Amino acid sequence: MVKVLVLGATGKQGGATARALLSLGHGVRAWVRDASAAAAVALAAQGAELFVGGGWEAAGAPAELARAAAGVDGVFFVSAPSFTDLGAERRGAAHVVAAARASPSVRHFVYSSVGGVDRYEELAGWDASAFSTAYWVSKAETEALVRGAGFDYYTILRPAEFMSNYTDAASARFQVAGLLATGTLRTPMPADFVAGLVDPADIGRAAAAAFADPARLGRALETPLVAELRTVARILADLGAAAGGKTFRVSTYAPDEARARAPGDPFVAGQLARLNAGRLVDGDDAIVAQVRERFGLTFRSFPEHLAAHRDEVVELYKDAP
Ligand SMILES: NC(=O)c1ccc[n+]([C@@H]2O[C@H](COP(=O)([O-])OP(=O)(O)OC[C@H]3O[C@@H](n4cnc5c(N)ncnc54)[C@H](OP(=O)(O)O)[C@@H]3O)[C@@H](O)[C@H]2O)c1
Repeated sequence: MVKVLVLGATGKQGGATARALLSLGHGVRAWVRDASAAAAVALAAQGAELFVGGGWEAAGAPAELARAAAGVDGVFFVSAPSFTDLGAERRGAAHVVAAARASPSVRHFVYSSVGGVDRYEELAGWDASAFSTAYWVSKAETEALVRGAGFDYYTILRPAEFMSNYTDAASARFQVAGLLATGTLRTPMPADFVAGLVDPADIGRAAAAAFADPARLGRALETPLVAELRTVARILADLGAAAGGKTFRVSTYAPDEARARAPGDPFVAGQLARLNAGRLVDGDDAIVAQVRERFGLTFRSFPEHLAAHRDEVVELYKDAP
């Protein structure tokens, strides 16, 4: 059994990783910014030790991170972009990786990045806005820090689009706000675009599997994390059915319109890069099969994810026509 410091533990990926580790009998020290937040209280109830710290990018973070990383075998890290401080993600990542490396007990570092980052400069539109540029560069630089730090084991997970973008209320209000209000998704993607999807719960299971078996899943493993490929039209049809038999539509921006919107709309900027990369970001059927085999896990399909979140979906889309 290992003990893991989980950063981002009150969020989707970190929370899933903490729960997956605990369910396998491993120990979890969860970094939280507010111990009274519902997610933190739930983690403590499930058996996690809470470590209350601040922002990873803050001046006081190195000392806090050194204390948090003391005595643990591994560190799970998922960084998050800031809309107001475009350098924050990189500064925070540098603090986290340095503290983990300086801790004599830490042997394994798992970083969850994003699909396509290994070839982001080939994604036409990756630099569509200052935010978009910082997004890709921050993640690529964090990967480079992890790769070069000299950990005994490291694993870089590159997840595809989260299924929860359509089902988690906070995510959906950002990712698919128009769909919630109008029943139509405005996107740079055509209806037949094939998107890769993954349930964040499965990212947590994959991360836990890596910590449990570093010799197999931690020897400088850098891997896409995609559960399935599905067209945008199918995603919306499945979602509409789960929302109570609604018919959701896709309305595709003309290429010039998408490029014009991207600087002021991070959602459009992100999708523009994915669109132009096609399967470079999400992979093909062979990669999906390879990922399943690598982790030895049965990942959830989108309909399975929707079934697991049926009540939330019905509530979330109740006003959509
Ligand atoms: N959505 C997608 O389709 C998708 C696909 C691939 C990759 N990603 C990447 O996934 C990442 C987000 O992961 P997620 O969805 O699991 O995040 P999330 O649910 O938004 O949770 C973020 C977690 O990180 C913590 N956190 C954020 N900024 C922090 C900071 N500066 N210092 C300390 N703690 C901080 C939050 O703590 P609090 O609870 O205290 O706020 C929370 O625990 C992003 O980097 C995104 O690019 C997203």
